[in-house]
Amino acid sequence: MTVYGIGLGPGDAELVTVKGKRILESVEVVYSPGRLSRSVALEHVPEEKIGDLDFPMTRDPETLRSAWKEAAAEIASVADDTDVAFVTLGDPNVYSTFGHLKRTLAAFHPEIELTVIPGVSAMTAFTTALDVEIESGTGLALREAANGAAPTGPDRMVLFKVTDAETTHRKLTEAGYTVQFGRRLFMEQGETIITDDPSEVDERDYYTLAYAEREGIEREVATAQFETESEEELA
Ligand SMILES: C[S@@+](CC[C@H](N)C(=O)[O-])C[C@H]1O[C@@H](n2cnc3c(N)ncnc32)[C@H](O)[C@@H]1O
Repeated sequence: MTVYGIGLGPGDAELVTVKGKRILESVEVVYSPGRLSRSVALEHVPEEKIGDLDFPMTRDPETLRSAWKEAAAEIASVADDTDVAFVTLGDPNVYSTFGHLKRTLAAFHPEIELTVIPGVSAMTAFTTALDVEIESGTGLALREAANGAAPTGPDRMVLFKVTDAETTHRKLTEAGYTVQFGRRLFMEQGETIITDDPSEVDERDYYTLAYAEREGIEREVATAQFETESEEELA
């Protein structure tokens, strides 16, 4: 049978894809790695469908490996008889816990078929919330920026896992970037913060992103000409 890795989107239950929802409703068991992904899944399936798995909050590779080995064994044994889903916030292939499961299943349970259903990643949820357009001819890089890290290089970056906004902001500003932060985007109403002031997001919250853009980058947008023409016509 199949294990489906389903991306749930950034948190709003209406941003789950139609396909993701259909599969969630069709499988017997839905495993979730955290409280938030569980609460989104519960908007689409009853509590009895949620499977029981334990995930340690650690970075220790040995502990992680054995926890994922156990989780994969449990999922594989249930998937012997029936289809199951493993949900993640955002997209399953973007900085996600699903990667651990995918690798562990491939190594220890190669007979299990795995199908990934993409989801709306925080990356595009953030650019939408900020109204940043990735125009033709430009690029956008994804990076991680935990514990005050401030990667540089690309003209435009979305930084995941921002935990020390003040330090990340200071370093990026010194390196010539303008920075905006997004917190709890498309989650509970009233929880979302979008700001360029790091003191507004200085309290640590796992669901924080930053968008960094190199100051003074040139933009050549094919349709920008319309504005100029119509302004001239109006003058
Ligand atoms: C383990 S990664 C998971 C990313 C996810 N797979 C995706 O595609 O969006 C967790 C990080 O994603 C970011 N994130 C995910 N959802 C978010 C949201 N709704 N608002 C703000 N940040 C979010 C945060 O930076 C958080 O630390």
